[in-house]
Amino acid sequence: MGNEKPRILAFAGSLRKGSLNKKALAAAVALGRDVCDFTVVDLAAYAMPVYDGDLEERDGVPEPARRFKALMKSHEGFLISTPEYNSSIPGAFKNVIDWASRPEEGEKSLECFGGKTAAVMSASPGALGGLRSLVALRALLEHLGTLVVTQQFAVSKAHEAFNEDGTFKDAKAAQIVKGITARLAAVVVKLRS
Ligand code: FNR
Repeated sequence: MGNEKPRILAFAGSLRKGSLNKKALAAAVALGRDVCDFTVVDLAAYAMPVYDGDLEERDGVPEPARRFKALMKSHEGFLISTPEYNSSIPGAFKNVIDWASRPEEGEKSLECFGGKTAAVMSASPGALGGLRSLVALRALLEHLGTLVVTQQFAVSKAHEAFNEDGTFKDAKAAQIVKGITARLAAVVVKLRS
């Protein structure tokens, strides 16, 4: 694990096909490809029930949540772009985090969050770009033991922010997002030593 690029799990906090956050994530991944080795996944492929302690007691952590946890564990960090729902993150995304936080036999507490580094983004058709969701997401991840780099970006008017080829129309936005992936990579590498 010397000089190879940081292994980063990249996902959006939205399930829907036409998600603006999936677009923002894809643009960020393209910009950061030189410095990070990304695995891009779609939360829609990990459909899981709403967390229910009775269900957990009966059946344990659901298989899709176990698969997602395994992915988290096998990466050094996360790149996340989340929608803002009512000033926070979407319930479906929070549900994934809640299941992922549940301990299983042989695991360290919060193993898939601890010692990881994350960079967070948001995208919204609104003027603030979903910025308030990042306050909630940052607090949540840090509580779980994930270091969140200070650099972040909220894509405002996200329905108008991308070219046909998925790149940012605004060169400044592209530059900032590239900088975020560079910072994420640098912090992961620094924490290896
Ligand atoms: C929203 N939306 C929204 N947008 C925003 O900027 N601030 C907000 O607080 C909310 N709240 C909110 C709640 C709910 C329940 C929905 C369904 C939507 C709009 C939201 O940003 C928009 O639907 C985005 O397009 C969602 O992200 P994806 O799915 O495009 O990635």
